[in-house]
This record gives sequence, structure tokens and C-alpha cells, in this order.
Amino acid sequence: MDLSRLWKRKGLNELSVEAEDPHGLSRSLGPVDLIFLGIGAVIGAGIFSTIGTAAAGQVDAAGHVVRLGAGPAIILSFVVTAVVCGFAAICYAEMASMIPISGSAYTYAYATMGELIAWIIGWDLLLEYAASNVAVAISWAGYFNEMVHNAGLLIGSSLGHPGWNWGVPAWLSMCPRGTPDAVFAAAPHLFGIPIVFNLFAVLIMAGITWITVIGIKESSRFNAIMVLIKLVILLFFTAVGVSLFKMDHWVPRGSVSAWKGFAPNGWGGIFSGAAIVFFAYIGFDAVSTASEESKNPKRDIPIGIIGSLIACTVIYIVVAAALTGMAPYASLNNAEPLASAIERHAASSSGLWITFCAFLVSVGSVVANTAALLVYQIGQPRIFFSMSRDGLLPSWCAKIHPKYKTPVVTTALTGAAVAVCAAFFPIDEIVDLTNIGTLFAFILVCGGVLILRLTDPERPRDFRAPWVWLTAPAGIISCLLLMVYLPKVTWVRFFVWLLIGLAFYFAMVVWRENLGRNGMSERKSFWLTGVAASVITALVTGGSIWLGLWK
Ligand code: ALA
Repeated sequence: MDLSRLWKRKGLNELSVEAEDPHGLSRSLGPVDLIFLGIGAVIGAGIFSTIGTAAAGQVDAAGHVVRLGAGPAIILSFVVTAVVCGFAAICYAEMASMIPISGSAYTYAYATMGELIAWIIGWDLLLEYAASNVAVAISWAGYFNEMVHNAGLLIGSSLGHPGWNWGVPAWLSMCPRGTPDAVFAAAPHLFGIPIVFNLFAVLIMAGITWITVIGIKESSRFNAIMVLIKLVILLFFTAVGVSLFKMDHWVPRGSVSAWKGFAPNGWGGIFSGAAIVFFAYIGFDAVSTASEESKNPKRDIPIGIIGSLIACTVIYIVVAAALTGMAPYASLNNAEPLASAIERHAASSSGLWITFCAFLVSVGSVVANTAALLVYQIGQPRIFFSMSRDGLLPSWCAKIHPKYKTPVVTTALTGAAVAVCAAFFPIDEIVDLTNIGTLFAFILVCGGVLILRLTDPERPRDFRAPWVWLTAPAGIISCLLLMVYLPKVTWVRFFVWLLIGLAFYFAMVVWRENLGRNGMSERKSFWLTGVAASVITALVTGGSIWLGLWK
């Protein structure tokens, strides 16, 4: 086996030629489209769900503290995470201005650290894009059920009778995690195993996949509409929050000091909250996967990345302030904290008004999750597309649709895989895995910027990271710190995931070498190594299940 190629880097000149391919993707996005794409990806499930756990903290069944809560100081957690993401965003912006290729961090790693690390980061990005889409699709389905339920209550009460039956059996519309025993009992059984299937998660993925196949411009327009709707609803939520604000919620009466009341667990709670709300910030980097569809990527991708991060930071801080001002932070530890904070006021306000507000919040979440699904479903196929163009995936994966000019094969495969996983999997583990995977990618991109400053200092950079020897190391260290605040089991799962990725990489190296030998056909060689990689994966996965890592 030729090991030297593991460290072989891809030249920036070669990458520039690829970026100019006239038969490639269609260039139609401007700076505003890109900022909207970033906001679409960032504001999704996170602000509507994980913010509650971050504020209230988490205890296990035995009452042990799993994570410290930030309390009302969750507002500061959002500031801390924004600063960490800011360092990474600046580094992404410099990379994208030099290497405007749709592979994002994968391509940046190929240009700076060689093929092996590029593969690892490509594999890691699956956690950020495809795995997070599984989580977002599940969350989408949960809020969709909630929205229909609230609509039923509204229609029901205005017609003079309460409630409205949605008509879909529970076993066909729920996430398997948290499903009541009665639903399992009523579900059909296959070989004695109850089948609970998240139909709505599958349907939304089918719709999103269709939009992302028919064109980037169409996807971008759809995204812009979704972004505007979710911004209006978050603004509405903030206005409701201001009208229900009580200083007591920020600093409970009888607190030892204002700071103790505001940040009950001090900076430990604030950092722990920051690690959780990191999920809510993921996505500004996804703008870089649209590099080959941007009209002027070297200038506009940095604008899209940094612009969307700034916009989302302001929105998050305002929403967090409103949320913690309208309800005691300890009451927020549930799956729908924004809606539940409003519903607490049902007794003191008009019931119909509160139901209407809760309905609007669930619409906001459905819309926000739809936009996030869309942008990740744009990003993942383009990373696969770049990997395939580099020979790290079979060449048929890089096929572009002749009419729509989109990477049709990778889009369809990603959509199908996410839909199947969302149909059967629970949500909790996926969010932490997405966080650790994305933090890892950020670290490599910050490192890559420094490597290129050393190895290729003269190359023109349309965007230069200011004080790079300060910002890039600060990005690396702060991402590492946030990783430390993630549970240990997430680390172990992450290493298992990387090991599986390495198994596939080495199987792929063998595949490529087979191709050169004995005239073996691409198809035969591909299947042979595919079988080998699958056996290794089954062994690693089976071993980790046996060790109790996946409950
Ligand atoms: N930032 C994305 C969300 O909150 C992943 O859904």
C-alpha cells in the first residue's frame, strides 16, 4: 500500500481550476442570499428546544446533576458561544475566500493537511450535516404535531367544541424516544417488536430533498421565505416576553446577591450552558458549501458567514432575555420551552390568546426547522460531491443533474438516509454528537488557516482574518474548552465514529489500489471493499453496543 498519499495535499491552483468548471454547479447566489442561507441553517431546533436544558440544567433519574444550568445567565452563555463561533467564523471566512469550493472544511483540510485528515473531516462533517438533520427532522415532526394540536384547539374553541382529532395513529407519527407505553402496545408488531414510525419526519425530508434537487435558486427563495417568517415569529415571541416580563424571574426574591440570583451556578453553569447552546449556533459555516453556486464567492461567502453569525447572535440574546424574563428558569427544562413559558400564563390571561401565542410559536419552530433542514440538505450532498470529485467516493456520486445543475445523486442518497434514520432513531444522543463533530471541524479549520499563512503567505486573500495568530489559536482553545463540557459518553461515541470512518478510508485505499491492479472493474473492486468496510463497521459498532455506549 502506498502510504505517502495519505499525506498528499491538494494544490490550491488545482482547486481554483475546479472552482471555475463551466459544466459544474450553477452560480446564482448573491451576498443577501448567502446571509439568508446562514440564518436559515443557524436558527432551527436549538433556540426552540435545547435552550430550556441549558438554562435549567439536567439531572438523571437518581437525582445526580448531569449538567449545570446557567439560569437567567443563559443570556451570557449565548454571548460566550457567539465569541467562540466568531473566532471560527473568521477562519472559515479566510479559508472560503482562498478556496471557494463546495467541500467546505473537508476541502480546506485537503489543501492543508493531506488526504487522510481530509477524509476524517469529511466523515466528521456527516455528524454536523446529516446527523443534525436527523435531529432537526425529529424535532420538526414533534413541533408539527404540536402545531396541529394547537390549531385544533383554536378551531375547536371558536366552533364551540374543544379539540380536533388529527386522525393519524400515534404509532405512525411519533419519535420512538419518549413514546408512552400505551402507544407501543397499540402499535403493530413485527417479530414481537412494536413498530413506531416517525412518518412526518420522513415526509418533510422527502419534500426538502425534492426542493434541493430542482435547483439552488429555488431552494434559496424557499429558504428566504422561511427565514422571514421565523424572524417575524421570534420578534412576536420577544414582544410577548416583554409584556410578561418580571424582574423576579431574572433575580429571584431572597437571592444572596443579584449575581447569585442571575447566575445560580456561576461561570460553571454559564459555560455548561454555552456547550449546550452551541447546537443553536451551528450552521453559519454551511454557507461555505454554496461556494460553487455563489456569483462572487471570494467576497460574498465571508459576508454570508460573518453576517449570518452576527444577525443570529443578536436574535438569540434578545430571545433568551425575553424567555428568562417571562418564566422561572427552573420551569424551562422541557422539549418546548418557548411554548411552555407562554402557556404558564394561561391562568392570568385570556385562554384563547395564550393558545394563539403557543400556536404561533409552534408554527415558528416548524418553519425554522424546515429552513435548517433545507440548508443542511444543501450542504451534505455538496461535501460528498467534492469528495467524489477527489476520488474519495465513487465517481458516479459526482453526477450533476443536466437540467437543474444540482448534485442529484448525493442529494437523493443523503435525503433517503436521513429520512430512514429520523423514522426510527431518538434525538438526544444525536445533538451531542453533532456538537462534538462540529467543534472538531472548527478546530481543524482554525489550524488550517495558520498552516496556509505559513506555507503560502503570498497567495491573495480577499478576506484576511484580523490578528490571525491570536484569533485562530483562540478559536482552537475555546472550541476545545466547549468540547470538555460535553458528557464523557459523547467523547467515546465520537471516537467510535472516527474509527468506523478510518475503516472505510483504508478499505477505500485498497479499492483504489485494486483498480490499478489486474484490470479489476470499478464496480467489482468497489463492492469487495464495501463488504470489507461493512464487516469492520459491524464489528466496531457491535463492540461499542456490547460495551453499553448506545442505549
Ligand atoms: N443550529 C441548528 C439548529 O438549531 C442546528 O437547529
